[in-house]
Amino acid sequence: MLTIALSKGRILDDTLPLLAAAGIEPTENPDKSRKLIIPTSQDDVRLLIVRATDVPTYVEQGAADLGVAGKDVLMEHGGQGLYEPLDLRIARCKLMTAGKVGAAEPKGRLRVATKFVNVAKRYYAEQGRQVELIKLYGSMELAPLVGLADKIIDVVDTGNTLRANGLEPQDIIATISSRLIVNKASMKMQHERIQSLIETLREAVESR
Ligand code: ATP
Ligand code: PRP
Repeated sequence: MLTIALSKGRILDDTLPLLAAAGIEPTENPDKSRKLIIPTSQDDVRLLIVRATDVPTYVEQGAADLGVAGKDVLMEHGGQGLYEPLDLRIARCKLMTAGKVGAAEPKGRLRVATKFVNVAKRYYAEQGRQVELIKLYGSMELAPLVGLADKIIDVVDTGNTLRANGLEPQDIIATISSRLIVNKASMKMQHERIQSLIETLREAVESR
């Protein structure tokens, strides 16, 4: 059995056409189903529906052989226990710092709100900058508006969310897309099968 971990939303929506090119189609619509294990048109391939931030954990621990995760999530998780053989070029965005439009840099220690605390720690450490990190789980854009933080670190695509909240994008930390990730033991044990799936997906990505 090959088990593939995916998250609902943009990753699922953009990955299903790629899997279809490899002849793998869910037997029911994962967006409508309450099931978390979804069989596919191939008897020995199944999908696990998990939170986006949990995909690397499932794959690293071997509960799933493969998964699709944003580079932002992989940077935050730390990718040592995983192979990352293919950039699927979906869910593209940028990981950025942002702050209130026209706001001056604070005099004292910078307060940064984000769900990417590990990325933030590394980013500011490289700059030799002392910061206070405030871990949030969503709606990061609110933090500077209500004085919880001076800046945020979040993903930005169109910039609409920032603009709608009187914030402006500042520095790019990384350009982001979603990656196919593979459990290291699975890659050894099912090498031919997984390698051939990677190649089919690579062709599907390149022909898009
Ligand atoms: P969770 O449900 O665990 O909180 P999430 O809400 O970040 O995760 P999604 O919004 O589905 O999950 O995002 C999945 C991935 O898509 C992110 O990790 C990121 O790489 C990318 N992404 C997030 N927002 C955007 C966006 N506005 N445009 C393009 N890609 C995005
Ligand atoms: C993501 C992210 C930003 C927004 C950026 O949220 O958290 O808020 O997209 O995109 P933009 O620059 O095009 O506005 P999403 O829409 O995924 O909602 P979420 O909070 O459920 O993740």
